[in-house]
Amino acid sequence: MKKITIAIDGYSSCGKSTMAKDLAREIGYVYVDSGAMYRAVTLYALDNHIMQDGHIDEERLKQEIESIEISFQFNPERGRPDTYLNGTRVEDRIRTLEVSNHVSHIAALGFVRENMVRQQQRMGQQGGIIMDGRDIGTTVFPNAELKIFVTASAEIRAQRRYDELTAKGEQCDMQEILHNVEERDYIDTHRDISPLRQAEDALVLDNSHMTIEEQKQWLLDAFHKTVGE
Ligand code: CDP
Repeated sequence: MKKITIAIDGYSSCGKSTMAKDLAREIGYVYVDSGAMYRAVTLYALDNHIMQDGHIDEERLKQEIESIEISFQFNPERGRPDTYLNGTRVEDRIRTLEVSNHVSHIAALGFVRENMVRQQQRMGQQGGIIMDGRDIGTTVFPNAELKIFVTASAEIRAQRRYDELTAKGEQCDMQEILHNVEERDYIDTHRDISPLRQAEDALVLDNSHMTIEEQKQWLLDAFHKTVGE
């Protein structure tokens, strides 16, 4: 059976990666978390003092972007791929609130997006891929056979992110997380290049009041309908 391309886009912290990873496992596709790539570039910029006190040295980042190598390696323990930056595992470091607070500024830069989109399109050349992000159905894979646009209320999304971070032992403040979620939504939907928007041919999934199981079933049904099974 021909393997299709699945694009999952939506607002921050609405559970896209959980659903994409579960579906990938279920149907034997490769899962790529495009947000992890923007997070890895942000971590690189912070570690190398390219981004300091909210200011980005764009010239330096432009010079170094080609040498930033991002890759994924499936981690059987977690059942999903870990992110590597220039050969070092950075999966935990890219998920901190510090990176979350800066990532949307880095992701708004045209040359960063061009570089990431090129890598993402290369990863999807063979089909059989599920990629989640903000511009997957609109820019990266405009011809994807199945496009899903996920949404949930900002409060519910912030609560999920709070639960996730506290479960990892990170100290966090609910108001700060809600502020981060709302700020990223604003930047992601208002930037000039590839803003977050629903592709016209995307199916909308509002998972505010859905359990993970219900969401899984919804997604599987959408997949089977698309491949005609
Ligand atoms: O996990 P969460 O949904 O909160 O965010 P993410 O998917 O890890 O993405 C982090 C940030 O990267 C987003 O807030 C966007 O600013 C940016 N991003 C993007 O611009 N384009 C993508 N395809 C994926 C992420």
